[in-house]
Amino acid sequence: MQTGSPMIERFEGIEACVFDAYGTLFDVHSAVARCRDDFGLEVEASQVMSDVWRAKQLSYSWLRSLMGRRHYVPFWQVTGDALDFALETAFPSGPPTGLRQALMDSYRTLDTYPEVIGVLQALKDGGMKTAILSNGSPEMLRSVCDSTGCTPLLDAVLSVDELGVFKPDPSVYQLAVDRLGVTKPAAISFQSSNAWDAAAAAAFGFQVAWCNRFAQVRERLPGVPDRELTSLDSLPSIVGVT
Ligand code: LAC
Repeated sequence: MQTGSPMIERFEGIEACVFDAYGTLFDVHSAVARCRDDFGLEVEASQVMSDVWRAKQLSYSWLRSLMGRRHYVPFWQVTGDALDFALETAFPSGPPTGLRQALMDSYRTLDTYPEVIGVLQALKDGGMKTAILSNGSPEMLRSVCDSTGCTPLLDAVLSVDELGVFKPDPSVYQLAVDRLGVTKPAAISFQSSNAWDAAAAAAFGFQVAWCNRFAQVRERLPGVPDRELTSLDSLPSIVGVT
């Protein structure tokens, strides 16, 4: 019988750990949470507004991709458009002065989830290549990586912007294979808290850990993630660096 720590089922042959950014490393709800007190927002209503903002941000990214590349705009604009929708929903007669600006400013410096820095450090200490693969536009990713201290812990920050199409277009996942110089898609361990992103990445051929931070129900989509985690804590063990 095994004693001590429970046995971790490892991913085999991993050459790089690639992370989704928003919702996986960076807490998308920290922007609204930060502004709540300054603008006297109710806790429950502001959470609903943050959920609408995020949901619209994602659906606008998918819809623009479906509408064709000439309708691509950087994720920063998508994020602003989605916020305008959420603000008008929450404040039909107009949001408090300065709230939009404060929320967009906060989005450039979102918080990381508590375990993120330690996990990235453990991966780097173990000699693992690390990267972000995100819908985010390069400038917003640079800003949040710098402000959170992630920049020195990442070998690459890859944005869909150079492709002009958002996840889950397979060309986005291919970008990580090409840029990180790995031997095959299955040499990438991909982590996302977005169930649809985890499913699409598994369908593409990555080994995938779905970081199900919000106890979501699994998606009924092609592609089944190889692991379901509640945080990234066990990732270094899963990819064999500890
Ligand atoms: C990203 C979004 C999907 O970072 O969370 O790509």
